[in-house]
Amino acid sequence: MGCYCSPMQLFSIFLIYIDLFSANEKVKALEQTLIKGKQTQDDCSVAVKKLRAMLHSAEEQLHAQKKQTVFLTQLAAKTLPKGLHCLPLRLANEYFSLDPGQQQFPNHEKLADPKLYHYALFSDNILATAVVVNSTVLNAKNPSHHVFHIVTDRLNYAPMRMWFLSNPPGKATIEIQNIDEFTWLNDSYSPVMKQLGSQSMIDYYFRAQRANSDSNLKYRNPKYLSMLNHLRFYLPEIYPKLDKMVILDDDVVVKKDITGLWSIDMKGKVNGAVETCGESFHRFDRYLNFSNPVIVKNFDPHACGWAFGMNVFDLVEWRRQNITETYHSWQKLNEERLLWNLGTLPPGLITFWNKTFPLNRSWHVLGLGYNPHVSSRDLENAAVIHYNGNMKPWLEIGLPKFRSYWSKYLDYDQPFLRECNINP
Ligand SMILES: *[C@@H]1O[C@H](CO)[C@@H](O)[C@H](O)[C@H]1NC(C)=O
Ligand SMILES: *[C@@H]1O[C@H](CO)[C@@H](O)[C@H](O)[C@H]1NC(C)=O
Ligand SMILES: *[C@@H]1O[C@H](CO)[C@@H](O)[C@H](O)[C@H]1NC(C)=O
Ligand SMILES: *[C@@H]1O[C@H](CO)[C@@H](O)[C@H](O)[C@H]1NC(C)=O
Ligand SMILES: *[C@@H]1O[C@H](CO)[C@@H](O)[C@H](O)[C@H]1NC(C)=O
Ligand SMILES: *[C@@H]1O[C@H](CO)[C@@H](O)[C@H](O)[C@H]1NC(C)=O
Repeated sequence: MGCYCSPMQLFSIFLIYIDLFSANEKVKALEQTLIKGKQTQDDCSVAVKKLRAMLHSAEEQLHAQKKQTVFLTQLAAKTLPKGLHCLPLRLANEYFSLDPGQQQFPNHEKLADPKLYHYALFSDNILATAVVVNSTVLNAKNPSHHVFHIVTDRLNYAPMRMWFLSNPPGKATIEIQNIDEFTWLNDSYSPVMKQLGSQSMIDYYFRAQRANSDSNLKYRNPKYLSMLNHLRFYLPEIYPKLDKMVILDDDVVVKKDITGLWSIDMKGKVNGAVETCGESFHRFDRYLNFSNPVIVKNFDPHACGWAFGMNVFDLVEWRRQNITETYHSWQKLNEERLLWNLGTLPPGLITFWNKTFPLNRSWHVLGLGYNPHVSSRDLENAAVIHYNGNMKPWLEIGLPKFRSYWSKYLDYDQPFLRECNINP
């Protein structure tokens, strides 16, 4: 291979490129060719030639979509610090230089042991995931009994693995999967998968983005990004051997040992969550379309909303009560988006209607991504704090007074962070 280029680095750049500007089938096919090329140790110059061809085709696409993407690109540049682009590239490059034997995680036998404490975390953000895992492990009384199941997208798969190979979670166990490998999660099985891939959804998504430019930083291909969020509705399918799991969003920090969550008697309910309603806000009428007779007939507009971010799921009850079927049937009814709009909370409220057990609010304190008035007493008592809102602690716009609760769980001397100029 008398070539100085690093195909894997180019490959990663290319993946970002198509991820940003949304892939078509042709590009996908070429990408497969490139992957094969890598596996057979194909000649580097051949790979580069193919890559150029792909870039060309992606550029044509870009041109066609220019109107839509200029805005999105500016948004990305403005809001995502440079280091957050650098980090996955740097990590991916390192990962592909390892031997296959070095790319594996230990303690495989623990992954399906229902006696242990299992967490699910679906994220495309490496730093955020690193903080969730580190904070959970450091506050656990017995880290060796904790198991983290991470699912990410194809772009972040290699870098995510590399991060945790070089920063292993102490005695805890970790698994990292790529959502693209879940072949069972396809258009014929999952109505949401089908809908998210439809042209009408893509158009709608981009329109909603523009109307809402400051309140949503998720600018990438809606199908893949949203599917990571919707994975929370498939826990029993993804983890068939497990009985109970805690699911954490990537914008939380765990401040205490939370194993107590597994011993709460949820009284036959499926979802343990903290409620979020006050006098008149965060009730069902805020999330669901109560002008629609189907909603009126089935739900109470004043029912209290609850939060995703830290939930306990009883997978035994889930399977027994066929919750996934319930979710699918509602998702099908919402094909025209007349029952609710985008997002996972509205279908969550519907799917887990009368199946949600209210947890003591000190388990999960919300608002650190938008509300500077979260009380210090609530923060102090919280087991998990949640930076929901736009002011994420890894962004410049993060609320300064809450940042250190997050940043203290990152070692900024870590070589990858230093090389990418990621600072507290
Ligand atoms: C789609 O998923 C179903 C089950 O979820 C599976 O039986 C089928 O083989 C999958 N189809 C493809 C093309 O992978
Ligand atoms: C709510 O449902 C009604 C009845 O289907 C429909 O006419 C209306 O457009 C829906 N509203 C929204 C905002 O989707
Ligand atoms: C769940 O589905 C199975 C098979 O489809 C059915 O036999 C069972 O009655 C369903 N249970 C509930 C609670 O709906
Ligand atoms: C709510 O669930 C309980 C069992 O947990 C059941 O007895 C009751 O009928 C349900 N209520 C509604 C309105 O579905
Ligand atoms: C909730 O938990 C806090 C602290 O753990 C405790 O002081 C409080 O009594 C609990 N509240 C309820 C309603 O159980
Ligand atoms: C995890 O957090 C601890 C304590 O704040 C810190 O010392 C350590 O460096 C962190 N680990 C990583 C990999 O960032």
